[in-house]
Amino acid sequence: MGPLTGTIRVPGDKSISHRALMFGALAVGRTTISGLLEGHDVLATADALRAMGAKIERHSEGEWTVSGVGVGGLLQPKTALDMGNSGTSTRLLMGLVASHGITAAFTGDASLSGRPMGRVIEPLSRMGTSFEASPGGTLPLMMTGSLPAVPITYRLPVASAQVKSAILLAGLNTPGITTVIEPVPTRDHSERMLKGFGADLWVEETDGERVIHIRGEADLSPQNITVPGDPSSAAFFIVAALLVEGSDLTIENVGMNDTRAGLVSVLQLMGGNIELLNEREVGGEPVADLRVRHSQLRGIEVDSAIAPSMIDEFPVLFVAAALAKGTTITNGLEELRVKESDRLTAMAQALTLAGANVTETEDGLIIQGTNGKPLAGTTGEPVTTHLDHRIAMSMAVAGLVSSAGIEVDDTRPIATSFPIFEALLEQSTNA
Ligand code: S3P
Repeated sequence: MGPLTGTIRVPGDKSISHRALMFGALAVGRTTISGLLEGHDVLATADALRAMGAKIERHSEGEWTVSGVGVGGLLQPKTALDMGNSGTSTRLLMGLVASHGITAAFTGDASLSGRPMGRVIEPLSRMGTSFEASPGGTLPLMMTGSLPAVPITYRLPVASAQVKSAILLAGLNTPGITTVIEPVPTRDHSERMLKGFGADLWVEETDGERVIHIRGEADLSPQNITVPGDPSSAAFFIVAALLVEGSDLTIENVGMNDTRAGLVSVLQLMGGNIELLNEREVGGEPVADLRVRHSQLRGIEVDSAIAPSMIDEFPVLFVAAALAKGTTITNGLEELRVKESDRLTAMAQALTLAGANVTETEDGLIIQGTNGKPLAGTTGEPVTTHLDHRIAMSMAVAGLVSSAGIEVDDTRPIATSFPIFEALLEQSTNA
């Protein structure tokens, strides 16, 4: 494949797409959404909301409408809610159910069924919800919401936008004020969009912590939402264009919310030539076009404080590090072990198999880069993706800068977040 050139657009942001459907389902009236990501994860959210009474329709690619049931109006689903591979669908919908007087069962695939749900079960139990989970606090689980639920003040023990959002969503139908304290800021799409839908939500900064309050028994009004391009999907193309010689690629309409844009800053520190053009706002979110040109990257020590703003981008950052000059050191990344796969082990194994020099530590990877020399690639066994879309796409990017190419055992998980990934890669390498 040749260099990446021309101009592309990546699909809509996954986090924002989930939230647009959920908040639309709780508004009274018709919300329109343009640029919705039509990946399997988001479709799982849409199906679950339909099962609880919302009317959700697709009109054309990315153009959807949601007729909501109103806060407090979710109906008892008749069958189990199948969350597929999607942690965001599961944890946020658990928050919604928590303050409705309904019982719901959540199931998922093998990857999701191994992921910790205790982090949402714990605060939602304090609000009055009862749970019957599988051993270790995992799916399948059954929960019965509490009506009325009890407002809580909760300091997040892990930096997780999903846990924060689950509590805020439960707070929407809870009398009084529900408060979440974030010692480390995480993506703030829920806060931005809930305000846009008319929720009484306010944020204070106290002793360096973000304190988010929401007043319950809210009324949400329908909105017209435009979803910006997903920076976590753009990430694969940013790294590919930096690594493949001769590349000069423009990715339009990429979400650049500070709580998501960590990868761009880290790659710039590594010497990556990434220009932000035409910075603007789309749907209440900062957006830019990114012009990315091939660059010789240098290894760095990544400050762990930046991790929450690029938490899903580490797999592809590890690929960039594998080709950089010198050593890249990461730490403070224990959360990566509970994503769709254990992303530290999965990437250490995959990159090692492809010929990179990687040491796995308890909470990060240390990678000795090749200084631009292609990786060997795979010749025998393929790399294992463990039902993790981001491992599959990261290793596809690594394949572009390898001598033998890299074979990936299963590319199907890519459709959870980026169904047109392969087509877009083909398009940008043939432009
Ligand atoms: C997400 C939050 C993050 C991220 C996930 C999407 C969200 O998870 O990894 O892909 O939409 O809130 P955590 O909250 O578990 O960090």
